[in-house]
Amino acid sequence: MTANFGVSSSVSADSVSANASTGVSVPIALPKDLEQRRMPSHVAVIMDGNGRWAKQRGLPRIMGHRKGVDTLKKLLRCCRDWGVDALTAYAFSTENWGRPTREVDFLMTLFERVLRQELKEMMEEGVRIEFVGNLSALPETLQKEIDRAVTMTRKNQGIRFSVATNYGGRQEILQACQAIATQVKEGALQPEDIDESLFSRHLYTSDISDPDLLIRTSGEMRISNFLLWQLAYSEFYITDTLWPDFDTSEFHQAMLAFQKRDRRFGKVNDKES
Ligand code: FPP
Repeated sequence: MTANFGVSSSVSADSVSANASTGVSVPIALPKDLEQRRMPSHVAVIMDGNGRWAKQRGLPRIMGHRKGVDTLKKLLRCCRDWGVDALTAYAFSTENWGRPTREVDFLMTLFERVLRQELKEMMEEGVRIEFVGNLSALPETLQKEIDRAVTMTRKNQGIRFSVATNYGGRQEILQACQAIATQVKEGALQPEDIDESLFSRHLYTSDISDPDLLIRTSGEMRISNFLLWQLAYSEFYITDTLWPDFDTSEFHQAMLAFQKRDRRFGKVNDKES
């Protein structure tokens, strides 16, 4: 991943130097108007608008997905540099199988190719990649590539990068219910033992904190079956920008908005009590 993308004017010039000619990654310093201690720990993104981006340029939809991968790589790197601990990206929903076969096939091949091509850099940059979703329905060659990337990066200590692939929030909740019901039926668990913490441990995201912030591009005001349980108290940031155009300065705007939010988690502010 190289940081050769647009940076906002408040990022100091020396912090983003050099990489255009050398291709060497240079960390992107946190903009001065952001507070490190108020950065979200976990950011989730619904990467919407690839098709429209391509259409606006008279290109096939798949070109939007291809450009979308570049955007995701740059965002991952920016999150890492700015101290975000985890990024979860919605790459393919359980409903996306209903798209034209050509587009589905392209996406599966794209995931596979990106995983193969980026593994070395993910290792160098300490990225730990994980997948959430029903992976057993994916093409076998992709499953193998996923296994390889997850296993190789398992011990990396940098940012955690979760890719939601063949993911559906309702399906995730149902499979958790089935697993818990089976344990109750077998006598291994009493119904009164089922609490939020136990339930969370049966989700695909069992060992990762809930997102602090959900970003959705392309202006749609929908959750689209994404992380239904986990987003209960997340802040939402929706921008009209199409995913391929979501650059660092857009992410900077999202962070500024997030840092202004008053997160009360259903309680009242200390000052108001
Ligand atoms: C939504 O835009 C986008 C997708 C369904 C695919 C997103 C996938 C990527 C960006 C590739 C990620 C790759 C890896 C390896 C994680 P849309 O097609 O619904 O756009 P539209 O609403 O304008 O039609």
